[in-house]
Amino acid sequence: MKISPSILDADFGNLEAELDSIKTADRIHLDIMDGQYVPNLSFGPAMLKNVKFPVETEAHLMVLNPANFLDDFVKLGVKTFTFHIEATGIPRAVELLKEIKSRGIFAGISIDGYTDPDWLTDEILELADQILVMSVKSGFGGQKFMNSAVLKVEYLRSRGFSGEIEVDGGVNDENVAELAEAGADIVVVGSFLMKKSREKRAEIIKSFQEVACAKGGCWSC
Ligand code: DX5
Ligand code: ZN
Repeated sequence: MKISPSILDADFGNLEAELDSIKTADRIHLDIMDGQYVPNLSFGPAMLKNVKFPVETEAHLMVLNPANFLDDFVKLGVKTFTFHIEATGIPRAVELLKEIKSRGIFAGISIDGYTDPDWLTDEILELADQILVMSVKSGFGGQKFMNSAVLKVEYLRSRGFSGEIEVDGGVNDENVAELAEAGADIVVVGSFLMKKSREKRAEIIKSFQEVACAKGGCWSC
């Protein structure tokens, strides 16, 4: 299993040390919130301009108009740009997935915790490089994991989606193996990791990377 720590709960006053403590992760997850799609605000691309990330980054756009952020995140070098189908609707999502891919970066689409996975049409499944299955209602870290996410991952695999499936929200050491068995490739981990001391994080990251692979449920590593 790959792991992508969310820096939403990081200490931004000590960002360099925070990033150093998670440098063995597979990616860094950037939660971008606009106060409209979700009631919360986080940080924008301007704040990240001079930040040196130790591994590749992915931008999870919880915003009403993701296209407004595409140029800025391309400039920042993000590898994966993920937006919500609830924000764009289906026709616009199709256009945007094509636009993102044409820029040479991975196109991700997300479904929120309460969204029916059938919002993702066959065309969208064919276009998307990654599906981000939220296992909470998006907007805040530290919420309880929704078990329906496991079923959504299984269901999307049963529909033949062979791209990457990532799960985000309330992931911890009690649900990570089940997610891998269901067919998830990567998990976002926020509070479970970032509320631990910096010294303990590398060990937790390693244990997540190992557990699921040992179960044979990983699709991409
Ligand atoms: C929620 C965000 C998540 C979240 C993860 O809206 O997309 O990435 O911060 O944090 P935990 O793991 O605490 O749910
Ligand atoms: Zn996220």
